[in-house]
Amino acid sequence: MKILVINGPNLNLLGTREPEVYGTLTLDAVMCELKKYAEKLGVEIEHFQSNIEGEIVNAIQRARVDCDGILINPAAYTHTSVAIRDAISAVKLPCVEVHLSNIQDREEFRKISLTAPVCVGQISGFGAGSYILGLKGLVDRLNSRKL
Ligand code: DQA
Repeated sequence: MKILVINGPNLNLLGTREPEVYGTLTLDAVMCELKKYAEKLGVEIEHFQSNIEGEIVNAIQRARVDCDGILINPAAYTHTSVAIRDAISAVKLPCVEVHLSNIQDREEFRKISLTAPVCVGQISGFGAGSYILGLKGLVDRLNSRKL
C-alpha cells in the first residue's frame, strides 16, 4: 500500500513559523515520525510539499498512477482552493485532511474547509499527532475496503 502525503503552503517553514500555533518540530521531523509510523503499519509513504496550488493539483492527479490514498494538509488552500477540492474529487482516491492546529478554534475564515467535504475524514488540532491519526484512519479505511 502506498500513500501520498501532501503538505501545502508555508508548511516548509514549520519549526520557526508561529511555533505557539504550529509547534517547534520542523516539517522534516514531522515527516520522519510519520515515516516510522508508516513502516510499523507496513505502508509506503511518498512526501510532497509545495507552496504552489497548481503543483499540488498535479501531485494529486499523479497519485492516480501508483498510490492507494492521499493524506493532505492543504494549509491555507484548505479555505480557498476549488481547484484542489476538484482534483481530490476527480481522482477518486480516499483522502484524509489533517491540520496541526484546531481550525475550528481559530479565525472565522479558517472554520470553512472547501476540501474536507470531498475527503473521507478530517483530523485537526493534535499537532504532529494529526498526521499519525490521519494516516491510521486512512490505512484502516483502505484495509476495510479489501475485506
Ligand atoms: C493549517 C491551518 C491553516 O488554516 C493554515 O493556513 C496553515 C496550517 C494547520 O495545519 O493547522 O497553513 O493547515
